[in-house]
Order: sequence, then C-alpha cells, then structure tokens
Amino acid sequence: MQRDGLSSVDPAQAQALEAELEWLAQTLERRLQLYFKPTPGDTPPWPDPPSLKPDCPYGQMLLGLQLDAEERLMLALALTPLLRPQLLDVLQVRNDSTHRPYTEFGGAAVGQPQGGFVPSGETACFLLAGEQMAPRLAVMRRFLPQGRLATGDLLHLAPAAAGEPPLAGALQLSPSFIDTALPGVMATAGAGHDGAPVGLPAQRISTGLQWQDLVLPAATLAQLQDIELWLQHSRTLLDDWGLGLRVSRGFTALFHGPSGTGKTLSACLIGQRCGRAVWRVDLSQVVSKYIGETEKNLSRLFDAAQRQGWLLFFDEADALFGKRSAVSDAHDRYANQEVAYLLQRIEAFDGVCILASNLRHHIDDAFSRRFHSVVTFVMPKAPERLRLWREGFPARVDLAPGLDLERLAQAHELSGGTIMNVVRHACLRALGRGEAVVRPEDVEEGVRRELLKEGRSV
Ligand SMILES: Nc1ncnc2c1ncn2[C@@H]1O[C@H](COP(=O)(O)OP(=O)(O)OP(=O)(O)O)[C@@H](O)[C@H]1O
Ligand SMILES: [Mg+2]
Repeated sequence: MQRDGLSSVDPAQAQALEAELEWLAQTLERRLQLYFKPTPGDTPPWPDPPSLKPDCPYGQMLLGLQLDAEERLMLALALTPLLRPQLLDVLQVRNDSTHRPYTEFGGAAVGQPQGGFVPSGETACFLLAGEQMAPRLAVMRRFLPQGRLATGDLLHLAPAAAGEPPLAGALQLSPSFIDTALPGVMATAGAGHDGAPVGLPAQRISTGLQWQDLVLPAATLAQLQDIELWLQHSRTLLDDWGLGLRVSRGFTALFHGPSGTGKTLSACLIGQRCGRAVWRVDLSQVVSKYIGETEKNLSRLFDAAQRQGWLLFFDEADALFGKRSAVSDAHDRYANQEVAYLLQRIEAFDGVCILASNLRHHIDDAFSRRFHSVVTFVMPKAPERLRLWREGFPARVDLAPGLDLERLAQAHELSGGTIMNVVRHACLRALGRGEAVVRPEDVEEGVRRELLKEGRSV
C-alpha cells in the first residue's frame, strides 16, 4: 500500500542495484576462493557484469558513464555499506595464524557502531587484483586525480588516518554520484556538502569584509545591486509573474577592469548578502591544463551550482575569449570547443554567473551582447583612494604623526588591491620592529615596491 511519496520505490532501480550487488558478491566469492584455495590449471571465468538498462537512475547514469567492469565493481563495493553491509562481513574473518583481520582485505578504520566492514582502497586492490602486483598497480592508478573516478567526481579515497598508508582510506562515493545514481535516497548535497568538483581548478571564495567596505562609484554599486535584486526576486519574476516564458532564467554579468579594483571582492559580497556560496573557476587554468576533460568537469560544476544556488565566478575570462578566433594549433582548437561549450552552458544556466576580465577588448562583441550586465571597474580616484588608505589599516595600528594619507592618496594612482599590498608591507615593517606604529617610510617603501612591480617609475 502506498501512503505517501516516501514509500514509493522504483522497482527497476531496486532490481538494477540488486543485480549489481549480486555481481559484486559473486566476484568477491571468486576472489576469496582463489585466495584461500588456489586451483592450478584452468580457472573458471569471472562473473559477467549484469547488463544495464536506461529504465532507472542507476542504469542511466552508468550507461552514460561507460565505465569498465573494474570501475563498476569499485562503485558497487563503495555502495555496499549503504545498501547491503552484511555482504562484506566475510572480510572480517580473522587470520588464524596472526589472530588479526587479514591485512590484505583492507577495511577502513572508521568507528562503526554496528561493526560493519568499510571497504578501503586496499579492499578494492584485493577484490580486483588479489596478490598480483601488476593488476594491483593498475587498480592504484584508478585513484589518481586524473583517473576517471576522480575526474568524473564519482568515487574518492578518503584521507587515511595519520601514519596509515593512503590505500587505508575508505572508498567514498561522491555526493554528486549519490544524488544522480540514487536520487531521493540519501541527503547529500542538501546536507551541506560543498567540496570542489574534482578535476576543476575551482574554489569556494568568500570575504570577511562587508558591503560598506566596498569603495566604488555610486553607479557601479547600483549595478551590483541589480544583480542582488535578481538573486532575490528572480523566482517571483520568472515563475509567479510568468516572465520565465519570455526571458532566460539565468543572469550573466561581465566584470571588467584593471587588476585590484574589486571584481573578486564584489562577487564575494554579492554572494554574502544573498546567502549564496561563490565558486571561482580560473579559466586560464581550465584552458591550459584540463583540455579534453573540461567539458565534463564544467558540466558537473554547472549542475552542482544549479542545484545548490551557487554563484559562479569565472576569473581570467579573457584566457578563453582571446582564443576564439585565432586557431593556430591544436591547443587553440580545443580552446575554441571549450568556448563554444561554455557559451552554450552559460546561456542554459539557471543561475547567476559572473565572468571577470582585465582586458575588455579581448572579449568579442557577439559574446558581449549576451551579458545581462556589464560592470566596469575603474581605478579609484583620489577621494576613493583616501578612503581605501584610511580604512585599510587595522584599528590597532597607530599611524606616526608624519604619515599623511591625504598626500599619499593624491600622489599615487593605485588600485585598492595595490593599496592593501602597501598596507600589509608597512604593517609587517612595524611588527618587525616590535611595535604597532606605522611610519611614513614604511609606507613610502611599500609604494615604491608596488610601483616597481607594476613597471611604473617611482
Ligand atoms: N573597490 C574596492 N573597495 C574596497 N576594497 C578594495 C576595492 N578594490 C580592491 N580592494 C581591496 O583589494 C583586494 C583585492 O581586490 P580584488 O581581488 O577584488 O581585485 P580584482 O579586481 O578581482 O583583481 P584581479 O583582476 O587582479 O583579480 C580586496 O580584497 C580589497 O581588500
Ligand atoms: Mg580578481
């Protein structure tokens, strides 16, 4: 009898998982037989993987991933503590000669109140390779960051306890795998997972500063507030007011301007004010390092961001757009594919996406037109610089009487980021002397260094 949504179970999904676990159980049995009673001569074949059907989430996901049998077995092994913990009880037997569990069966040292066996990297090696070295090395390779399990954000090796070898870490299914292959079964993403999608140079960024610390012209602030308005009211606008039928569901902004003018800070503050996590992706790294895997990894990031309402901040965006037209070598060709994919994904993205760039003219017109907002960050003028200087120094620091911030603000055209570099330098000088007083020469020296760094005369 079905009383509520919670009691409805997809029979095809249950069947697929049953078959997968049964295959794992048979494989494990064969491995144990081989281990305890090696039979010379003909060995029976390994059990065949059950065929996958696209009639349930598990089947659909695995078909899409096109994993090989070993990868599938590793996933099934990691699923057993969730779905059939008793299947691994046989691995808890004690070795009669050592009176300890078998080292070769692995098993993570995780506090398990019910005493179940938690498969580790070592367990996967045992299952798939037994005691043979070459197959074992092949299994170990599957845990590398560039392996399919990691780049696909499917399965990871948890960090081993201190002093333990890395393979002693537990096999951990990623929340995104659980969400997709076993939807509605376990709370994962909703339970606060915010690990970076593996294989992407993406980090969560945030700031300890507040909105009132942001020093920008009023017009720029107003443009940033428009993005906030969208974050707060887009659901009402699109769904309740029905505008979703006519306009795109996402919001894409371009932040451009010189380095250190507050682009990253602004993105963090928008996220902070709207209670959204901000994820930064360095596009220059995406292009140089992750050719080929990029599409898949970006797609995973977009999916996670959409599910969890993250704000995506694509930094160094010119790294991609600069390459759009110049197809000179294989690298550029890939970059172009990635640009095409990124454009299409951004347009389909039901969320807020900010691209940041230093060089406006590198971004082509066709793309510029697609932005809902183009925010120009300019170098601060003297009064803004004065504010940045005044507010930049920590409250517990005293400024020596000769230190004239007004003169500094007038004399040097510096960005907020550069001013903060000088402040840091000057404060360190003071600390080096064992005091909390910043002297004019500390600041002057800091300014000189920064100007030199930027290739400007002193
Ligand atoms: N407009 C600003 N208001 C207040 N502080 C600022 C401003 N601009 C820069 N800063 C200070 O400088 C730091 C660096 O700025 P931020 O990283 O946001 O610059 P950016 O424009 O993203 O630079 P880049 O193009 O190099 O990435 C900030 O964390 C902040 O302390
Ligand atoms: Mg930045």
